[in-house]
Amino acid sequence: MCGIVGYIGPRVATPLLVDGLRRLEYRGYDSAGIAILNGHGVETRKAAGKISRLESLLSSSPIEGNIGIAHTRWATHGAPTECNAHPHVTEDGSIAVVHNGIIENASTLRTRLTERGHVFSSETDTEVLAHLIEELYEDTLEKAVIAALSHVEGTYGIAVMAASDPGKLVAARLGSPLLLGLGEDEYFIASDVSAILAHTRQVIYLDDGDVAVLTRDGYDIFDLDAATKSHVVSRVDWDLDQIEKGGYAHFMLKEIFEQPSTIGNTMRGRLLEEEGTAKLGGLNISDEELLDIDNIIITACGTSWHSALIGEHMLEELTRIPVEVEYASEFRYRNPIVTDRTLCIVISQSGETADTLAAMREAKRRGARTLGLVNVVGSTIARESDGGIYLHAGPEIGVASTKAFTSQVVALALLTLKMARLRDLSILRGREIVAGLQALPGQVQQMLDRADELEELAEEFKRSPNFLYLGRGFNFPAALEGALKLKEISYIHAEGYPAAEMKHGPIALIDAMMPVVFIAPHDSVFDKLVSNVQEVRARKGKTIVLTSRDEPALEGLVDYEFRMPETLEMLTPVLAAVPLQLLAYYIAVKRGSNVDQPRNLAKSVTVE
Ligand code: G6P
Repeated sequence: MCGIVGYIGPRVATPLLVDGLRRLEYRGYDSAGIAILNGHGVETRKAAGKISRLESLLSSSPIEGNIGIAHTRWATHGAPTECNAHPHVTEDGSIAVVHNGIIENASTLRTRLTERGHVFSSETDTEVLAHLIEELYEDTLEKAVIAALSHVEGTYGIAVMAASDPGKLVAARLGSPLLLGLGEDEYFIASDVSAILAHTRQVIYLDDGDVAVLTRDGYDIFDLDAATKSHVVSRVDWDLDQIEKGGYAHFMLKEIFEQPSTIGNTMRGRLLEEEGTAKLGGLNISDEELLDIDNIIITACGTSWHSALIGEHMLEELTRIPVEVEYASEFRYRNPIVTDRTLCIVISQSGETADTLAAMREAKRRGARTLGLVNVVGSTIARESDGGIYLHAGPEIGVASTKAFTSQVVALALLTLKMARLRDLSILRGREIVAGLQALPGQVQQMLDRADELEELAEEFKRSPNFLYLGRGFNFPAALEGALKLKEISYIHAEGYPAAEMKHGPIALIDAMMPVVFIAPHDSVFDKLVSNVQEVRARKGKTIVLTSRDEPALEGLVDYEFRMPETLEMLTPVLAAVPLQLLAYYIAVKRGSNVDQPRNLAKSVTVE
């Protein structure tokens, strides 16, 4: 989604800002722009489409200066045109604003400002902010920003600069992530640490209600009443090479191939072989409190919601605690039953998804204990949850989530193991699960070594307009995830279904043109699934079966087979995810899609 970068320091700002924008490209955007404050006041350049268009504009019409703000926009209010791209400036060009989030009372404010003579040039909610700051400007930029924000309803992460108060950047945050980067005599603003990682690892994550003022000499942070606040400086331990492609054609492929190590990292130091359990240092919840939990709610969006469904299955089966999984966007607007004995598990790769964050806050408000399963260290969900499990999967840049998904399922397995061992899971079963988990990285590697089989399969099916994915039990969510991966990056219509549900609708779609992917490891529902394969076959559908053994029952029923290693039933979705990711990836590449930045999608959805 939208990205912000700001710079103040001794260096020429434009290349730093453009590089920052490039590193935010993965979040999804449809226009970009930059504003520089120099001896001529504020100068802006904006372009619809990719950053390369902004770069061409900057090379034909350069702007120089040491203070600047830049933005990638993912359209919400108004089409993705040059005019609607940020930064937005006042009519006299003296104040420039970039903004992530949504100003909900923008139209009321726009009407009032228009009555007072302001002339708007875009359709965006953000432009209102620039005019409002101008309207309320008295002596300093930060005072005007604070005054303007008191009239605003909605969410924002903003960076502002003004010709009348040069040598200064002002940033503010409410509901949309923003951080400060602290360099040597230079400072950065960014909505995502990737934008500035090449320059500094010292960061301050702004909290909601913070306003920061940056000059070349330092920074100050205030609250919305202009009272000074102190802040913790964090060190980011991600490396620059982790946010680069490292020889792979796409980030998504790199991230798929990283899974043996990312799954290993999620488990590192957390498995207790002898005791047959897991040690989770960040839970911040005692064993006694865990034993007191009456019910669990897991809430998430997108791929993280799929891992939640797998977590539900694991937790109910092994802990016998009732678990409910709910889309965060639904949970936040209903009247859920939450008590102080409810554990609310919140799953989010980015830790910033607006609906997931709001659902977590709502659960907390109602008295639940909240646990965040989050990948991005220092993200809002990580900071606001009562405790959590970091995934340690490293930066995920490809918009379609891959390594974060497998790490989420592994983290859920660790939590299940710990909670089940506190209850009645035997040490022997616990040890079996530990061994199953430990084997996963090697098993994933075995499948990655056979990626060419999936590339061939992709060649066969790259022109199919539709796909169906079927699984049962633990692998129904894997089917949903397989279908989601394909539709996200190849734009092929794909649906995931519980295999037996096929008879209640999707079967009508099956003919010789319909590929059906079955996730069929040798598990407790394997025989049931074979009947579903037969039903597809009888209607001449093309059967693609992911299975784990030579199965006589499947003889004559399978058009294409991919063999997965055997594992414990609860861990089968981790293994199934890998061939499904590769199949989607290769089909998308063969169709010429932009795999890492699929159309209309955003990596982190920070608006409702
Ligand atoms: C977006 C992304 C998905 C992701 C979902 C939830 O839709 O495109 O890949 O699964 O958000 O994101 P989160 O960061 O909360 O896991």
